Amino acid sequence: MDYLKILKTNQLAGEIQISGAKNASLPLIAMTILAKNNVCIKNLPQVADINTLLKLLSNLGANIDKQAHHVSVDTTSLHETKATYDIVKTMRASILVLGPILARFGHCEVSLPGGCAIGQRPVDLHLKALEAMGANIQIKSGYIQATAPNGLHGCDIIFDKVTVTGTANIVMAAALADGVTNITNAAREPEVVQLCEILNASGIKIEGIGSAILSIQGTAGTLIDIDEFCIIPDRIEAGTYLCAGAITNSQLTLTHVEPKHLGAVLAKLEEMGSSFTLTEDTITIHPCKKIHSVKIITQEYPAFPTDMQAQFMALATQADGVSIIEERLFENRFMHVSELQRMGADISLNGHTATVSGKSQLSGTDVMATDLRASSALVLAGLVANGETDVHRIYHLDRGYDALEEKLGNVGADISRLKE
Ligand code: EPZ
Repeated sequence: MDYLKILKTNQLAGEIQISGAKNASLPLIAMTILAKNNVCIKNLPQVADINTLLKLLSNLGANIDKQAHHVSVDTTSLHETKATYDIVKTMRASILVLGPILARFGHCEVSLPGGCAIGQRPVDLHLKALEAMGANIQIKSGYIQATAPNGLHGCDIIFDKVTVTGTANIVMAAALADGVTNITNAAREPEVVQLCEILNASGIKIEGIGSAILSIQGTAGTLIDIDEFCIIPDRIEAGTYLCAGAITNSQLTLTHVEPKHLGAVLAKLEEMGSSFTLTEDTITIHPCKKIHSVKIITQEYPAFPTDMQAQFMALATQADGVSIIEERLFENRFMHVSELQRMGADISLNGHTATVSGKSQLSGTDVMATDLRASSALVLAGLVANGETDVHRIYHLDRGYDALEEKLGNVGADISRLKE
């Protein structure tokens, strides 16, 4: 297994090109199941989760032509409808094939994703919505067995909770359903917006895009033609590198980024003392001599994203004063805390709230990544910790960051990937 060796970095300088968004790529790859043509997807990030989903589609019979940052997916010869445990256990977002396969073939079997490090992460809302659309759902031997012998029909769906992949799954199922599906309490994340925009451009009439109320006019089973498209920039990757700039008191420019997707993140960094220069597709963060403490509550988009919580906790260890971080989406998304404490951070936990007292001088040591975003938080801490920080189990990091050590190394970080 690989690990990252990081030495204390004085300052970073230069440009980082942001890759396509992992969390936009996954539903958009699943969307190709709805297509009758070979779909070309550009600006794909080189991350493990994308390869896992492409492998799943290939196992189902799709033809995949994958280049570095783009892929052509042809699902016209797709003949299998079972997503097996061996794949789903490595990437829970495999659940995204359930809606499209069920809508297209009338039956689908997907291994229950099970929990993950950050929480239970049930899929009950996905299943309840599909049942409302006419599916019969059974759970047998750890598999979701879904059938819709008469096809899916449009209906009114109200999500009890905002669910990102749940919204994506139902939007895709509704695209081939018979009639109109109205979703209330839909996720508004940019990744869901792009899915809706591309389906809309492919002839699926969708109203309310970007709002919490979506109305989707289905084709009653007719597959669609999907033109080539480009994945939107990864706002969480971008936010992570902005935190790298802030924690090292550096000037960094991010290119190929969408500033309007980062409103809540930029606002919190400004509260902590950073300043920015923005253009249409770049963000430059300027050195901030002093980092101020902050209060953060994670919520659904457009509020502060849970996927930036760990990174801001690392940053908060360098802030003067007491920061309060409340995690409202996942029940176990503080596993980076114990590793940061081992580096010398002063963090106390009370339920879903972390209290971070800074400024702490962190010390490098061996630390273990526990989940994707926790991994990046440990890298950020390693940039300012005295001595050497070795981040182990970085297969977590490789799931969602494209060439992180190259990108940070190119702007002056002393970071290398080594073998255990
Ligand atoms: C997506 O996960 C993202 N993953 C996550 O990013 C992100 O943290 C999360 O949305 C929240 O923004 C992808 O897009 C692939 P949810 P998802 O369904 O869709 C509960 C990363 O680091 N819930 O919006 O699985 C759930 O337990 C990853 O890139 C139900 O109760 O999250 C959670 O408390 C981590 N029942 C809340 O809703 C359901 O059926 C939000 O979950 C579905 C969800």
